[in-house]
Amino acid sequence: MSGPASTLVTGIAELTTVDDEFGTFRDAALVIEGDRIAWVGPASGAPAADTAVDVGGRAVLPGWVDSHTHLVFDGDRAAEFAARMAGQAYEAGGIAVTTDATRAADDARLDALVAARVREALAGGTTSLETKTGYGLTVPDEARSARIAAAHVEDVTFLGAHLVPDGLDPDAYVDTVCGPMLDAVAPHVRWADVFCERGAFTVEQSRRVLTACREAGLGLRVHGNQLGPGGGVALAVEVGAASVDHVNHVTDDDVAALAASDTVATVLPACDLSTRAPLAPARRLLDAGATVAIASNANPGTSWTTSMAFCVATAVLQMGLTVEEAVTAATLGGAKALRRDVGTADRPAAGRLAVGARADLQVLDAPSAVHLAYRPGMPLTWAVWQRGRQVVTPAGRP
Ligand code: NIG
Repeated sequence: MSGPASTLVTGIAELTTVDDEFGTFRDAALVIEGDRIAWVGPASGAPAADTAVDVGGRAVLPGWVDSHTHLVFDGDRAAEFAARMAGQAYEAGGIAVTTDATRAADDARLDALVAARVREALAGGTTSLETKTGYGLTVPDEARSARIAAAHVEDVTFLGAHLVPDGLDPDAYVDTVCGPMLDAVAPHVRWADVFCERGAFTVEQSRRVLTACREAGLGLRVHGNQLGPGGGVALAVEVGAASVDHVNHVTDDDVAALAASDTVATVLPACDLSTRAPLAPARRLLDAGATVAIASNANPGTSWTTSMAFCVATAVLQMGLTVEEAVTAATLGGAKALRRDVGTADRPAAGRLAVGARADLQVLDAPSAVHLAYRPGMPLTWAVWQRGRQVVTPAGRP
């Protein structure tokens, strides 16, 4: 009996595997078999396969793993963005504007909006996506957001604790989040998150939400230390969250706690620029030994981009990471933040190009990954394979 179809990818000028065995090397080839990588090595030793694709001297790296997005929304907040660029500060209250627009959209419209955003991300090289609820904030609206998200991405996060809706008592709303809302979203989500921040949820309220969600079997994530110093990072480490995201305002104790934990520190460079926030200290976190992920935080309020390439370029140009560190954070780092870096029997590992890993890869229209930062803002994604299937082709490019 023959196995799944195989494809030999040749003409790889530089292969970034983000894997300890091969690292980054030149004149490479790899073989895709079914949804997995079956072989990686020097072009001179490549085995035969059913078909071959020559990528013409370009760079290949894993697809981006974007571990923090908010794609389930309707509406536009360009005016709020313009006001911010004119000097206003970002405040959590803007979430309510998007919540109103999202509640008003019918299912078909919301579904089409999410689908288009996922396609846009894929065209930019993103092969794994997490996305959150959090613009519904009623039991039926959160359940609808979770259901629609689950139709498009594998990692859906329940973010009922994004903002206390106007007019509701905060503790009563937390009761709803921990009770009927959690019950309603649970069939569709793998993760729970909370916006632990001034103007959103206190540490005590956040702990209640996270504890209830963990008891319901969900993995945990935290929006922490975005707008100012606070207890978000410490809480994330305390509850064993897979990641704490934003981390703009961290103390030495926060950094040490992250470095000593399995909680990934997820930095969101596009959000930092779009809110004119101090850049998250990615360099300091890496130097301390923390695991860092880079994600887009695509959302209409603070970071309206799905471009992981832009985030990687910003991390290199402004956060002091090397290209290799930034690419690792945007691939394997994201996979670690989603606990997808280790494969299981039915689901290969994501975030690296190693034998047995998921065949999620992108080809840049450039000879090396350095071009991601060297040519910032350029649309370098030339081809993408997701789960072994070529989903973006060079057709139409100049
Ligand atoms: O991750 N910080 C909280 N949530 C989003 C922003 C949401 C909004 O303003 O719509 C974020 O930045």
